[in-house]
Amino acid sequence: MDWSEPHIVELPKVYDVRGSLSFAQSDLSLPFAIERVFWIYDVPAGAERGSHAHRRMQELMIAASGSFTVELRTAKKDYRFTLNRPSQGLYIPPGCWRTMNNFSSGSICLALASTLYDESDYIRDYDVFLEEFGQKK
Ligand code: TYD
Repeated sequence: MDWSEPHIVELPKVYDVRGSLSFAQSDLSLPFAIERVFWIYDVPAGAERGSHAHRRMQELMIAASGSFTVELRTAKKDYRFTLNRPSQGLYIPPGCWRTMNNFSSGSICLALASTLYDESDYIRDYDVFLEEFGQKK
């Protein structure tokens, strides 16, 4: 697995007549230990989240309910992912400018993060992002 690029991770899924269960575990589906979990919900129609990058933080982003779109920009490439399955995670390495939009009503964006909350890890200015992570080729 190439953890230097964003990509979808298929998580284990255990299902039977009672429903489905998925899980993420540091030594199985992730290249990092989970230090923090946060979730985004009650997003109004048309709202956009994100618009920042992280210097160190890695994360796995999961549509725990509903669907939304994640747009990522790295020094190399632009990516667009639609997350709509709780058994899939989007791995996001450091150095990705991200925006999330198209949240469906009632959707929940669950994030498993590699670091504790630290505002100095955020890059919220796009020009600073370009300075630190390079121009798009
Ligand atoms: P932010 O990461 O900017 O949200 P998003 O990228 O989803 O639009 O966080 C929004 C606010 O919440 C910001 O003031 C920081 C705060 N926050 C915490 O205090 N702890 C956390 O773990 C996270 C993710 C955010």
